Amino acid sequence: MSTIPVKTATANYPVQVQPRLLETLAPHLRKVAGEQRSIFVVTSPEIWSRWGQSFLASFSARKIDILPLFVPAGERYKQLKTVEHLAEKMIVAGAKRDALLVAFGGGVIGDMTGFLAAIYMRGIRYVQVPTTYLSQIDSSIGGKTGVNLRVGKNLLGSFHHPVAVFIDPTVLTTLPPKELRSGAVESVKAAVLGDARFFAWLESNLGDLLAGDQEIVTRAIEISVRIKAEIVSADEHESGQRMLLNLGHTVGHAIEAATRYRTLLHGEAIAWGMIAALHLAVARSALPPAEAKRVEELTFRLGPFPRFHATAKVLLDRTAGDKKHLQSAQRFVLPVAIGKAIVVQDVTQQELLAAIQSMLRTMKEHGV
Ligand SMILES: NC(=O)c1ccc[n+]([C@@H]2O[C@H](COP(=O)([O-])OP(=O)(O)OC[C@H]3O[C@@H](n4cnc5c(N)ncnc54)[C@H](O)[C@@H]3O)[C@@H](O)[C@H]2O)c1
Ligand SMILES: [Zn+2]
Repeated sequence: MSTIPVKTATANYPVQVQPRLLETLAPHLRKVAGEQRSIFVVTSPEIWSRWGQSFLASFSARKIDILPLFVPAGERYKQLKTVEHLAEKMIVAGAKRDALLVAFGGGVIGDMTGFLAAIYMRGIRYVQVPTTYLSQIDSSIGGKTGVNLRVGKNLLGSFHHPVAVFIDPTVLTTLPPKELRSGAVESVKAAVLGDARFFAWLESNLGDLLAGDQEIVTRAIEISVRIKAEIVSADEHESGQRMLLNLGHTVGHAIEAATRYRTLLHGEAIAWGMIAALHLAVARSALPPAEAKRVEELTFRLGPFPRFHATAKVLLDRTAGDKKHLQSAQRFVLPVAIGKAIVVQDVTQQELLAAIQSMLRTMKEHGV
């Protein structure tokens, strides 16, 4: 079992990664949360029917009530109303301030459960047991929680860290391949912004990763988690370094918004966003073209990614609407080498437009 620490000014917790960890969850939970009489597990009917038995396996001999709270799968249920329903169910079940919540699902469930934990009786503890590749390497770590509003994503939320994250790569065996590929884009992103050795390792091992080789998948998760954990530990609230995690996200978020989150999975939009960031970096001679080509090639091995219909102008306008840019001049994460990115503030609208246009041209050749 590998344990990766997250240590911020306000929180200190372990991220544990091990195949089949789910089957031995009870003692691990007790270690981080103490004896509990009841545990509330937020999950979806689909995930529970596939993995509920494994989840329950280590609890059977103990006097602990496991109370599953079901939410339907899907981003559209990531809303305040769902959180309210969950809170009401908890009240009815008698949950007090010492209650423990477990988020057992993908990023949608993780973000919602974290937010519920942040506001239920002004804050209770929760644990993340993420079940998608994306949530295992990204959304379960770092304490960002929240729900969507009709007018935009993640607009209500708070920082509330879990007391632990338990990652069982085995649960990914039931994940649709498209979800795995899309999540793996964030691994490529992590490698590009912070770990050249990991990038080279991915170049050699991506085939096995996508084929579901347990050892390779586990290793990829461990390294990706370590990169995110180190960045979050250095900068909890995205004042500087944490911004690096948004590589590819300025244009990626614009694509998601312009296509109303319907055409592409998150990672797929970020893949196009990274292509735009590469073009921008090469155009200002910040990144050698040969390195950009390697990143592009590795990224496209996770495709093919869906094409979408949006003009460069619409996408440009949408980048300004990204809430992360409201406070200041437009910040942009610029890849400057494989393994290194920097945050710059001097990207002009013309530069960004040119990068988006050249990304759209690339899409004509590579999209499906
Ligand atoms: N908090 C953060 O820092 C952060 C970071 C990145 C993304 N996010 C959020 O994460 C969300 C996306 O998360 P996601 O990509 O995990 O999507 P998701 O939670 O919607 O899960 C994707 C799909 O996979 C299914 N699924 C989950 N686990 C499965 C399994 N083991 N086997 C079979 N099917 C399974 C789900 O039911 C769902 O249909 C977005 O809402 C995004 O805003 C948050
Ligand atoms: Zn992302």
